[in-house]
Amino acid sequence: MADVMTGLKRTNYCGETTSALTGKEVVVCGWVQKIRDKGMLVFIDLRDRSGIVQLAFDDQTPEALRQKAQTARAEFVLMAKGVVRARESVNKDLPNGDVEVYVSDLRILGRAQTPPFEITETTNVKEELRLKYRYLDLRRGEMQRNLMMRHRIVKAARDYYDQNGFLEIETPCLIKSTPEGARDYLVPSRVQPGKFFALPQSPQQYKQLLMLSGYDRYMQIARCFRDEDLRADRQPEFTQIDLEMSFVDEDDVMTVNEGFIKHVFQEVLGKEIQTPFRRLNYQEAMDRFGSDKPDTRFGLELQDITGLLTGTEFKVFRGAIDGGGSVRAINAKGAAGKLSRKEIDKLAEFVKTYRAKGLAFTRLTAEGESSSYEKFLTPEEAKAIRERLGAETGDVLLIVADAKKEVVYDSLGALRVRLGKQLELIPEGSFDFLWITQFPLFEYDEEENRYAAKHHPFTSPMLEDLPMMETDKEHCRARAYDMVLNGCEVGGGSIRITDPEIQERMFAALGFTPERAREQFGFLIDAFGYGAPPHGGMAFGLDRLVMLMLGCDSIRDVIAFPKVQNASELMTGCPDTVEEKSLKELSIKIDTPSPALRG
Ligand code: AMO
Ligand code: AMP
Repeated sequence: MADVMTGLKRTNYCGETTSALTGKEVVVCGWVQKIRDKGMLVFIDLRDRSGIVQLAFDDQTPEALRQKAQTARAEFVLMAKGVVRARESVNKDLPNGDVEVYVSDLRILGRAQTPPFEITETTNVKEELRLKYRYLDLRRGEMQRNLMMRHRIVKAARDYYDQNGFLEIETPCLIKSTPEGARDYLVPSRVQPGKFFALPQSPQQYKQLLMLSGYDRYMQIARCFRDEDLRADRQPEFTQIDLEMSFVDEDDVMTVNEGFIKHVFQEVLGKEIQTPFRRLNYQEAMDRFGSDKPDTRFGLELQDITGLLTGTEFKVFRGAIDGGGSVRAINAKGAAGKLSRKEIDKLAEFVKTYRAKGLAFTRLTAEGESSSYEKFLTPEEAKAIRERLGAETGDVLLIVADAKKEVVYDSLGALRVRLGKQLELIPEGSFDFLWITQFPLFEYDEEENRYAAKHHPFTSPMLEDLPMMETDKEHCRARAYDMVLNGCEVGGGSIRITDPEIQERMFAALGFTPERAREQFGFLIDAFGYGAPPHGGMAFGLDRLVMLMLGCDSIRDVIAFPKVQNASELMTGCPDTVEEKSLKELSIKIDTPSPALRG
């Protein structure tokens, strides 16, 4: 049977038991990190969320107490009373490695089986195993620090927005399903058979309604749900720092939120971030970096060489130009040493995963030159390209041509990021913020064969582009902005449509009949008829922000209980089948047998 705590109360956390307490009696609690049993001498490293302290037992320790200590194993839960004293041999790896607790009372509060992996600071145990036993993984110092920092970031957000007049208001999680955006997670209603709620993809509509109700400045640490494919920086449920403001334009929203970044970096990391951030409009971002979330910590910018090739007979470039596309290039300056022919072949395979059909190159080394395309060009064309790209010995010129300009942007944008890493051009520990503005209002959805809202249907068009909403959707720009950090979209928002007439035009442009718009968004359309203040806002992806601030590679490392690639949670094993009875209550019949029942 386990011991009880009776008569003892914790006085100090393990990591806070330092030399300042020398000579004092303390009571510490925690998990056994390690036990060293040398017969008459027993040492136990005891761990809690604050760190580790050594417990010591020696030949002066009563026999029974020492023997009890010897029964402890890794991950046992202990409570120990004793006097803090200087250690004989200092452990330089621990901040309090110069002291130990010389134990006079020991309670074994919980026993533990041998864990499936050792609980260590950092680990290279497979993530699947870590997630299956997440409660053990979360004991690791690394994970505990991540979650403690996350807490501090959330607190800094609440404090900052509170100081700036924002009210935290909760919005519902069971809401009406709307057809725009990602796929909804649906929740069946029991009392209204055949009807469903959706879980919110964001509090968007509610926060706008709060502006209409006069709350002026709203914020919420909001859980959002999106049934979309997972990536390293995406989860099906994630958290936003969501906010909305009335009587503002883009500059107001950006300034307040730059202020937040400044505040949170100072509070949590002690880092000074310069504001205001640089702004780049969408088109410039695409042209220079091939991405609307460019990593601006390094160069390797894209160059448009289409204009130099208007007369070319090289079929690859000709085809791209005739098809209405472009030919663009990156000069990997001085990279010839690192980019062998073999490496370049790998890069060619890489761009193909972004739908590029190939990667043309010229490699200039002191020993000689090789090019996959110059032989197909006139000497003037080849020379013009070299000149435009500022080519010198040691450089590698990399070119993609395609009739679809998105393919050129996407493949070269991804190639640029890969080269930035491969050529080690990214300075460690730097945080490079910028805003991307003037996004397209619409985005062509090839699957559905229609234009969809790039951000969401409540985002205002730019005033000068209003006349183009019906006639030139492709070039119509939005009053939308994203905050980008080190190549990651950490937040985004917009100024909203408040004019019912423009909202109607927007719905029509998205292919809604007036009836369908009313059916889906009737309450919103009505609300805007009762006095809507100009308003706008944005939402930060909290998980992404924390991940970047802490330098983690995956958002799963800053979420206590994340989901994996197939949107399941490995520890509890959800989603899972439910009892027939529960389905009956919900009037639901399963059409396909669940994968668990198949075979
Ligand atoms: P948006 O859809 O751009 O805007 O989302 C805002 C931010 O949320 C983060 N994010 C995600 N993080 C983790 N996993 C996901 N699946 C995921 N999807 C998005 C991103 C993104 O920048 N209502 C609007 C905001 C507004 O207009 O005010 C919205 O949700 O960092
Ligand atoms: P080919 O004549 O098809 O062998 O192509 C000659 C060179 O052009 C090779 O290096 C190809 O990798 C490259 N190439 C082919 N398609 C493209 C493309 N769409 N963009 C850039 N280079 C390409």
